[in-house]
Amino acid sequence: MLQNRPDNMERITTSEQAKAYIDEQIALMREQIGDKKVLLALSGGVDSSVVAALLIKAVGQQLVCVHVNHGLLRKGEPEQVINVFGKELGANLVYVDATDRFLDKLAGVTDPEQKRKIIGGEFIEVFAEEARKLDGIDFLAQGTIWPDILESEAGIKAHHNAGGLPEDMKFELVEPVRMLFKDEVRVVGKELGLPDNMVFRQPFPGPGLGVRCPGAITRDRLEAVRESDAILREEFEKNGLAGKVWQYFTVVPDFKSTGVKNGKRTFDWPCIIRAINTTDVMEVTVEHLSDELIDHLVNRIISEVPGINRVLFDYTPKPPATVEYE
Ligand code: XMP
Repeated sequence: MLQNRPDNMERITTSEQAKAYIDEQIALMREQIGDKKVLLALSGGVDSSVVAALLIKAVGQQLVCVHVNHGLLRKGEPEQVINVFGKELGANLVYVDATDRFLDKLAGVTDPEQKRKIIGGEFIEVFAEEARKLDGIDFLAQGTIWPDILESEAGIKAHHNAGGLPEDMKFELVEPVRMLFKDEVRVVGKELGLPDNMVFRQPFPGPGLGVRCPGAITRDRLEAVRESDAILREEFEKNGLAGKVWQYFTVVPDFKSTGVKNGKRTFDWPCIIRAINTTDVMEVTVEHLSDELIDHLVNRIISEVPGINRVLFDYTPKPPATVEYE
């Protein structure tokens, strides 16, 4: 049975509280799962990573993690999942590189909603295919957190975690972080020894870099988004902004402008930098960067990222602009 957060539950802020929560959940999961097998879609995000680490402690090899690389992940993300979970924690990890499958389906699709639908639908299909290949799975673990439950009860958003799998695939759910708020999941993740850049990572949308490559996704423009995002993240890390700014990323829109490089005319894309702060994501303010950092970013991006000849900074708060471009 899935437990709700008790009204009198103390907010987990300390290592001791996290330890107690971990021990309690391990005991509960062992009781629930017994000697059966559990399946988990491991994205590498905070919630699914903490669920994986808890389950590895509780039932070890009875957990099967499936990491679907849809080709829209940030630079280094699939590698980190393989290193941390496959190698360091010794998890039973199935890695599926479905990049071609996703990008082929997305080719020529310009409508943002359609793109999201394709990415979400294909994700479930790939995951279900992998699940069918495995024998004797009784449980499905999910990184549902307490705000997901509150929001679905309030009718704000459908509880996306639970739905989606085909009708004939029925699993009993295991949701060990269901009672936690996001900040508590991070404290628990830290206590479990997960790397800081996993535990304290900025929000990243399910459709990934796909929504930062507005319009029809092409492999070259996607690569420009991925490389410029990696440079931005590296510079934020170096300049002490990584844990401080809520969300920061780059967008490479689907239009070109003229430029000049080594005395020759270029016709390339711009790269837009977005850096924002918020508490609830309903309203956001813009993080203003120093002139030096902006100059340095412009320099690195235009010289290191093929296809970019111009760098722009987005000064627009939300409202009126949303955080993402699609
Ligand atoms: P917007 O663009 O709506 O974004 O102002 C608000 C926050 O939500 C994230 N976001 C998403 N997260 N799936 C997700 O899991 C999505 O489809 C999605 N779209 C936006 C966005 O990154 C920001 O933090």
